[in-house]
Amino acid sequence: MILVTGGAGFIGSNFILDWLSHADTSVIALDKLTYAGNLGNLAALTSDPRFTFVQGDIGDTGLVSQLLSTHQIHAVVHFAAESHVDRSIHGAEDFIQTNILGTFRLLEACRAYWAGLPKAEAAAFRFLHVSTDEVFGSLSAEAAPFTETHLYEPNSPYSASKAASDHLVRAWHHTYGLPVVTTNCSNNYGPYQFPEKLIPLVILKALAGDPLPIYGDGQQIRDWLFVTDHCAAIREVLARGTLGETYNIGGWNEQANLSVVHAICELLDRLSPRANGASYAHQITHVADRPGHDRRYAIDARKIERELGWRPSETFETGLEKTVQWYLQNADWVQNVQSGTYRDWVRQNYTERS
Ligand code: NAD
Ligand code: TYD
Repeated sequence: MILVTGGAGFIGSNFILDWLSHADTSVIALDKLTYAGNLGNLAALTSDPRFTFVQGDIGDTGLVSQLLSTHQIHAVVHFAAESHVDRSIHGAEDFIQTNILGTFRLLEACRAYWAGLPKAEAAAFRFLHVSTDEVFGSLSAEAAPFTETHLYEPNSPYSASKAASDHLVRAWHHTYGLPVVTTNCSNNYGPYQFPEKLIPLVILKALAGDPLPIYGDGQQIRDWLFVTDHCAAIREVLARGTLGETYNIGGWNEQANLSVVHAICELLDRLSPRANGASYAHQITHVADRPGHDRRYAIDARKIERELGWRPSETFETGLEKTVQWYLQNADWVQNVQSGTYRDWVRQNYTERS
């Protein structure tokens, strides 16, 4: 049995669905169900005997220790985090609590459990920490993409908290021998992503007839990775990654934000044309930039390809079309998400921009 933290979030839920379609191992999802946790993402597993959901905090040592020993967990895949840069700018406290302190407590619970395992089981145990390319800071237009040895230069409260968690994970390996691997991935997109992030936000705002908010000049570059490609990479790292190592995971797919938004508009123009025939691109609006906005992220994913044979299988064209189709076909999911805390967040983040 594996324990997946943050299993009701965007990537965690995709990972669990993907995992159970490939392996016969059972899964426990531990998730606090913050605004970003959505059990609806896992609705397909409601009657699957291989799946158990537990609502709780990764910082609750008693609960985590009990889950580890009762279910004889052989791997922890750690997705749980506060994950949105804009929210971290408005208030960093939760990011420090969950991403740093929560990861510390999770590591300590895992260490105590792992130390008590019989030798063979201890050797097979894995702690896989899911992190981000944002820990490396911002690249200039000409710079080579981030390799695993790139200097850590986090610029936002979010990326600083993730960087801190990466260091803790590294230290728990070097100091205590905990069998860890860390992955640093680029921007994910795909089904079940909470519509505070660029791609789902733009799809849903376009369909609602609302302005499509582009921060600053829209020339910031991200390296977009389709979520199921990311899930496949994590499976490979978990199975064959070298202990104590880090693996960069990216889509080989750098795009400026404005190009991404135009591509979404073109897809919607084709798949769900506006009644008046006008392009959704007319809704594009430039708004005040994000403070400290990183200009460019790009991942050099050659190490994971060389060592583990992983490469993304989706192009941006195929991945984006699947994503837009998914949001068009899942109006109930969208409706459920939009009727929650999300509305308050949209008001807080966007009403003061013009
Ligand atoms: P998400 O915000 O969609 O989901 C996070 C999940 O963690 C939610 O279900 C939330 O309820 C849960 N959670 C938060 N605090 C918790 C706590 N204290 N205890 C238990 N559960 C808690 O995030 P995501 O986009 O799925 O990202 C997953 C991981 O991948 C994060 O660690 C993030 O830093 C990393 N990552 C994400 C991206 C991306 O593009 N989404 C890119 C790089 C790295
Ligand atoms: P986001 O999805 O928040 O991911 P991250 O900040 O982790 O990269 O944002 C992706 C890019 O899109 C980032 O450069 C900020 C930009 N952006 C906008 O221009 N408008 C928006 O409304 C949002 C949410 C993001």
